[in-house]
Amino acid sequence: MHTLTRLVILLAAMPLASAAVAQTHNANRNAEALAAMKASFEPHGQAGMDRLDQDKTQALCSAYAPHAPPARLAAKLLTANRDSVKYPADGKYLGDWKRGQAIAEEGTGKQYSDDPSKPSGGNCYACHQLDKQQIAYGTIGPSLYHYGKDRGRSEAMLKLTWSRVYDMKGYSLCSAMPRFGSKGILTEQQLKDVMALLFDPDSPVNK
Ligand code: HEC
Repeated sequence: MHTLTRLVILLAAMPLASAAVAQTHNANRNAEALAAMKASFEPHGQAGMDRLDQDKTQALCSAYAPHAPPARLAAKLLTANRDSVKYPADGKYLGDWKRGQAIAEEGTGKQYSDDPSKPSGGNCYACHQLDKQQIAYGTIGPSLYHYGKDRGRSEAMLKLTWSRVYDMKGYSLCSAMPRFGSKGILTEQQLKDVMALLFDPDSPVNK
């Protein structure tokens, strides 16, 4: 075979080969980690052992972590996650930004020590800058300051943002952002309130 042809074939096969090695390596390590967690964790309140069960998206991301899974494997799950989004029944995306701000600041919910009958918070500040008043915020996610001001409030933009907050794994498969809608963390009304925080011209996000 012509040397150049060989080189081209070799280069083309390389990413596949290294992804396969990473996956096998992860499978062994993940199985060990899961066994260790199952042996040492105990269910406590609302935090049951089912928290260790991964859905297809999480399993694929774990199989390739810290790399992104190959695009051909990710595509179907991205579509499925986007298709799972439920839009507001009354077609209205925006609630009350003041309530939205309280939800964004609230970090409780879903932990064993939290009262399951109380609504969960969104804890958005843990990962995002949202306004100029807040001086302590996380930077895992991009700044959302001027979110609505910069993007406008078209139906398409509201729908896209709703869908992202509902399930970011429909856009970025291995996103660190909690899937607020599809995992039932926030209610429809809470999602509307958080949307108002992002889009209302009077919200500190857009000042
Ligand atoms: C654990 C971290 C984390 C938390 C908590 C979090 N996010 Fe995110 N968010 C991210 C990351 C990371 C991204 C970037 C997208 C990605 O994952 O690739 C993102 C992206 C976004 C985007 C899209 C930004 C854009 O320019 O398209 C919006 C909107 C958003 N987050 C809103 C929220 C809201 C509202 C909350 C609270 C209800 C929240 N996020 C809580 C991590 C987080």
